[in-house]
Amino acid sequence: MKVEEKFPPPKELAKNAWIRTPEIYEEALRDTESFWAKAAEELDWFKPWSKVLDWNPPDSRWFVGGKINVSYNCLDRHVKTWRKNKVAIFWEGEPGDKRTLTYDDLYLEVNQIANILKQMDVKKGDRVTLYMPMVPELIVAMLACARIGAIHSVVFAGFSAKALRERIRDAEPKILVTANHSYRRGKIIPLKQNVDEALEESSSVERVVVYQRSDTEFTPMKSGRDFWWHELTVDAPLRCEPEPLDSEDPLFILYTSGTTGKPKGVVHVNGGYLVGVATTQKWVFDLKDEDVYWCTADIGWVTGHSYIVYGPLALGTTQVMYEGAPDYPQPDRLWEMIERYAVTIFYTAPTAIRAFMKWGEEWPKKHKLSSLRLLGSVGEPINPAAWLWYHQTIGGERCPIVDTWWQTETGMILITPLPGTTVLKPGSATLPFPGVKAEVVDKDGNPVPPDQGGFLVIKTPWPAMLRTIYRDHQRYRQTYWKRIPGAYFTGDGAKKDQDGYFWMMGRIDDVINVSGHRLGTMEVESALVSHPAVAEVAVVGKPHEFKGQSLTAYVMLRGGVNPSNALKEELKKHVRQEIGAIAVPDEIYLVDKLPKTRSGKIMRRIMRALLSNEDLGDTTTLEDPSAVEEVRRWLKEIK
Ligand code: WTA
Repeated sequence: MKVEEKFPPPKELAKNAWIRTPEIYEEALRDTESFWAKAAEELDWFKPWSKVLDWNPPDSRWFVGGKINVSYNCLDRHVKTWRKNKVAIFWEGEPGDKRTLTYDDLYLEVNQIANILKQMDVKKGDRVTLYMPMVPELIVAMLACARIGAIHSVVFAGFSAKALRERIRDAEPKILVTANHSYRRGKIIPLKQNVDEALEESSSVERVVVYQRSDTEFTPMKSGRDFWWHELTVDAPLRCEPEPLDSEDPLFILYTSGTTGKPKGVVHVNGGYLVGVATTQKWVFDLKDEDVYWCTADIGWVTGHSYIVYGPLALGTTQVMYEGAPDYPQPDRLWEMIERYAVTIFYTAPTAIRAFMKWGEEWPKKHKLSSLRLLGSVGEPINPAAWLWYHQTIGGERCPIVDTWWQTETGMILITPLPGTTVLKPGSATLPFPGVKAEVVDKDGNPVPPDQGGFLVIKTPWPAMLRTIYRDHQRYRQTYWKRIPGAYFTGDGAKKDQDGYFWMMGRIDDVINVSGHRLGTMEVESALVSHPAVAEVAVVGKPHEFKGQSLTAYVMLRGGVNPSNALKEELKKHVRQEIGAIAVPDEIYLVDKLPKTRSGKIMRRIMRALLSNEDLGDTTTLEDPSAVEEVRRWLKEIK
């Protein structure tokens, strides 16, 4: 589908948005350091920085010498003003329970948990793993870590016990915070049970703090190790001074999928990260004090870290937070909530939008959505049909859509419209954020002509850039800075049109995006290979109407093992246990052989290109034609 239509900013926004003039782009490029310094001045610092940027490729340090505390910026500076009693979070549990927390409520809870962590001997630089449902206590625990300089590692609660164990092994936390269970589509997910399983083998974890989500089930507690959140908070002191931290002290580790079987611990730091996230939150979402903002992501992923926790709270925003599934108890749960809280800004993922389209427009039509003024999209390319549906059915044709491109590694949005000035084109993430130098290049780092596909790179550092991979700086250099000369390699393909607008073409490596969840095909392969019946595996992503991409696994069994449907089911179950439900392939083929190069490598790239109908001639997949024919024949045989 080709959409030629363009959408200029609505009059109201063109007049009132924080950013209304395109000159900001030139200004930011002319003197990028002053641009970011000005942005940093909007935060509260204990000690000013002496140097904005220290760039020693591929290592950057921002706001050098500055002292800051993220929790102070998200809480203390608000409770000193009228925002003390402003609502921070309207929360709903999936079963329908509701809570409202003001900035003062959050502040007191965070102080208490920070004290409890200190009592448990957590010191600056120690890691704390959080494995929790979407409850306000997850935010409290993150901010409590930030307050005392502990490094949090949030593990998405949809990951299995084994996946949790692997992330614990890498981060070596002293403390783990969890909940007894969570809810998903009415079912109870036993989080504490997963934790017990993850900690079965020896581990660094000394204590487990358990938030009681509800008392509907008995939760076994290990004496001396496990403590109830609500018992600890009874007499924990209500004041804990925020630690002045160095700009470059780590704030958190977040594991994300790469091209190997082992997830990468992406490290973000206090100063630059908060500057980047707060600035983009304000400008991209045009966030004002009177807005009610809602980002539907899970905090277990980077979108939740940056645009539920740190961005909105740094700005003193009122936001909605929801625990469960969007179609529980009915497919209008989100629309009902938008009406109930009069949400003005709504940020979700294309995979969700495509699901809403499938469920039908009768569901949003049942509700008053006229409070909405701005919509956002993130996580994967949004196809023009979904863009137009979102614009018409949810936005009533009055709300601009900010299609925001970024990654766990970038920490903040990098390519996006600014809603008060950018003319939108459905399906395009539009332009790099002011001060960001994005480019589409060939493998030698030379820009490609307009409308031609190439690699998306970022040419200069930005404040919220990842600083390293936890305990593997070599991998950081190798993965991001060695592929394309002199630039940060994103792993995405893209093209730029004649107007300089960016059109994202998806990942060009072995990372895929299933329903907005980032996964590595190699991770799924290693999970399958760990099953005793399996000899070798190729896992390939292919386009999927609703999920964006889905996983297909070609599995070669060990000699003597008989293929059967029961075995396929068992393999699916095995992946669920090894990683989690999100990684279970849609299709599994049990095959006798896999197509390989003469040197014995499985030809995954060709398989993927053929399954996706990718153009094999483009810069990203130059392959030997006879090999392409061989894989094509092989795929036909399997079908
Ligand atoms: C993809 C999520 C097109 C991209 C914030 C990137 C997008 C990966 C967009 C990072 C977008 C994210 N348009 N593609 N607006 N946003 N992506 O680390 O392939 O979970 O590399 O971060 O998602 O996924 P991650």
